[in-house]
Amino acid sequence: MSISRRSFALSLAAAPAILRGQNDSLRARVKIDTERVIGDIDPKIYGNFIEHLGRCIDGGVFDEKSPLSDANGYRKDVLDAVRKLNVPLLRWPGGNFSSNYRWTDGIGPRDQRPPRLEMAWGTVESNRFGTHEFLNYAAMLGTEPYICCNLGTGSWNEAQQWVEYCNSREDTAMTRLRKQNGRSEPWKVTYWGLGNEMDGPWQMGHRSAEDYGKFALEAAKLMKWTDPSVKLIAAGSSNFGPGSDWTGWNRTVLQFLNQHADYLSLHMYVGNADNDFGDFLASSVELDHRLKTAEGIIDAALSGQPGNRKIYIAWDEWNVWYRARGNSQRGRRILEEHYNLEDALVVATFLNSFVNHAHTVKIANMAQLVNVIAPIFTSDQGLFLQTIYHPLALFANNSRGKALELFVESPKYKCRRFDGVPYLDTSAAYDNGTLVLNVVNRHKDQAIEAEFELEDKQFSGPVAVSEVNGPDIKSENDFGKMPVKVAERSAAADGRKLRVKFAPHSFTMLKTKLTA
Ligand code: AHR
Repeated sequence: MSISRRSFALSLAAAPAILRGQNDSLRARVKIDTERVIGDIDPKIYGNFIEHLGRCIDGGVFDEKSPLSDANGYRKDVLDAVRKLNVPLLRWPGGNFSSNYRWTDGIGPRDQRPPRLEMAWGTVESNRFGTHEFLNYAAMLGTEPYICCNLGTGSWNEAQQWVEYCNSREDTAMTRLRKQNGRSEPWKVTYWGLGNEMDGPWQMGHRSAEDYGKFALEAAKLMKWTDPSVKLIAAGSSNFGPGSDWTGWNRTVLQFLNQHADYLSLHMYVGNADNDFGDFLASSVELDHRLKTAEGIIDAALSGQPGNRKIYIAWDEWNVWYRARGNSQRGRRILEEHYNLEDALVVATFLNSFVNHAHTVKIANMAQLVNVIAPIFTSDQGLFLQTIYHPLALFANNSRGKALELFVESPKYKCRRFDGVPYLDTSAAYDNGTLVLNVVNRHKDQAIEAEFELEDKQFSGPVAVSEVNGPDIKSENDFGKMPVKVAERSAAADGRKLRVKFAPHSFTMLKTKLTA
């Protein structure tokens, strides 16, 4: 299903009276109809990701020597902060790391596991955190595990046996091994990745689309024959660089995998290297464009095929990432981005896009959970919540149910990459009489006053307003200080109408009850 969103291209200078308030503040109009449903919001779009990379797992999630950890080595303070993120799906063990991971190294008594040279990030992998540690962690969080197989240096057999080890009830060498390692019942892991970013020359085992398609198909067959209930995620293209063939890769891969893949994995990282606020804040326009293109490619791959197969999008790596990049940073303290307010706003716009594509995006994983391009940042003594933690937590805890298509009339602006970017970026969720509206004001200096009008319902009771903002777009949180945080207040609605003024450079979530 393709949803067309009505919008008006009004430049700020040309905005008519309706878009300017009494104090010349900017104005917008939003119409809400609870029957205009885009699709069911899969909570898995608020997923996350842990990779054996820098201090994400070792020194973040897991730190056996820390007094802050429990008897099994899990950092308790991190666990608490992760729980509040309400993570529904956790991807592991990579990322690029997965393309040289031998899962059998990470099982059995910890002290007997072999350390190995790790080629993705240039370190030594101790293997002390492996399949059991990951699946226990997911269980402690109450999150669904998602394992990404090694289709780089790995074999079909390894992928098949990993599924067997985790999911089979048969009495086999693999399941005996699992029992010997302390786990009698299968875990029943549903989500399995068919490799990571296999189109990138940086990837170990990088292949052409045809070679990957053929290779992944054989792995997929064996994995599904081992456990027909598994859901498989094919590696789509993450390579937008010059000379890359994003659409071609996705098309070819789905020609091979259209009967076996359940999801197409896509990745996107964005940044503000040019220090251009307006352009950076419009990054989700590019995401929307890629989503629409991917939806078309998936439709084409399934058209004329027997049955009613669906392939959804798994946007299983996304975030702001541009400062802590580069090969010179190989080692332990790598990819540690320190986020500011504008990054948090971009994160909120990405989440808006996933909600607005709820009919096709059924998985999304922020990359990553702790320390490495992450919402949670630790030291040996404690942790702090990065700016990007707040929008993610608000969405994951509230924005559930059905995604609604909104009619939005907002002033717009032009930036380096795009024309007609609405200052107000929005999404809406409706769940059993509760309406949630997510609004980013992309304007750097001006508030925007919006009038919301319900088409088919009435507001009932107060509106809870949660605003993520800070003193400045460059404000950062740190140990012991949190200038970027969530401020709570309440607003009053009147019948079918609600007026809210959105502060400059802010993300606001409105939550309220509706009646017929
Ligand atoms: O998340 C960091 C890295 O970014 C992942 O390992 C890789 O998949 C992507 O390129």
